[in-house]
Amino acid sequence: MLTIDHLSQSYGRRQVLFDIDIAVGGGEVLVVMGSSGGGKTTLLKCIAGLLPITSGDVVVDGVSVKREPDRARERMGMVFQYAALFDYLDVRDNVLFGVRRQRHIGKQEATRIVDEQLAAVGLQGDSGLMPNELSGGMRKRVGLARALAMEPKVLLYDEPTSGLDPVTAYSIDQLIVDTRDRTGATSIVVSHDVTSVLRVADRIAFLDSGQLLFLGPPDEFRKSHQAEIDNLVTKARAENLA
Ligand SMILES: Nc1ncnc2c1ncn2[C@@H]1O[C@H](COP(=O)(O)OP(=O)(O)O)[C@@H](O)[C@H]1O
Ligand SMILES: [Mg+2]
Repeated sequence: MLTIDHLSQSYGRRQVLFDIDIAVGGGEVLVVMGSSGGGKTTLLKCIAGLLPITSGDVVVDGVSVKREPDRARERMGMVFQYAALFDYLDVRDNVLFGVRRQRHIGKQEATRIVDEQLAAVGLQGDSGLMPNELSGGMRKRVGLARALAMEPKVLLYDEPTSGLDPVTAYSIDQLIVDTRDRTGATSIVVSHDVTSVLRVADRIAFLDSGQLLFLGPPDEFRKSHQAEIDNLVTKARAENLA
């Protein structure tokens, strides 16, 4: 469904991703983790066609991101770290925004899709609220509803649980898995929250200084003895006990 094909990426002369090679299956949840500055967001931006690819390629549903970024982007929905909502639009209009333009449909049909997606993320009663009336978790849900309204084949999430309390984070994790089950969309989730990762990932890709150190299922990840991974797991256990 999505292939990251020998991808290397530089900002100017500074290389931040080194020959990343991952094939992500249809309906798979791949979590990209690693410490801050490791290149996670850069990888997500390359996949999303938001950066001109330096070397290698990403192929989404048969479309090359390098050659046809616009066509590739139509197949993807993005849920950003800080759900960038329009402050002057209510929840419904925030989700509606873009739906009509991108999908070339009438207002009635667009409204039906928006209501359906708001219900899917548990916000059916909240469509008239303004962004400043929303909690952090609700904002993430609106961001997800907006991405889902485009019916993407691939969903990209950048740190979807960051800044949320553990209970809300858990509900967002659940929503990511439910969304995958319901839509069959391939999901790539960037996270440095180990607890969350072990909950949602089919496979984990661990990036360190732009190198892919590990790629495999959560069980193998847990057993791995690489120092960086142990550190993160230990930290997560401590947080769980706290
Ligand atoms: N627009 C940019 N211009 C130059 N360097 C950048 C830019 N964005 C990120 N970087 C650098 O690339 C590296 C990887 O960053 P990033 O992909 O944001 O990592 P992560 O999301 O894992 O924290 C970091 O060293 C960061 O400073
Ligand atoms: Mg980042």
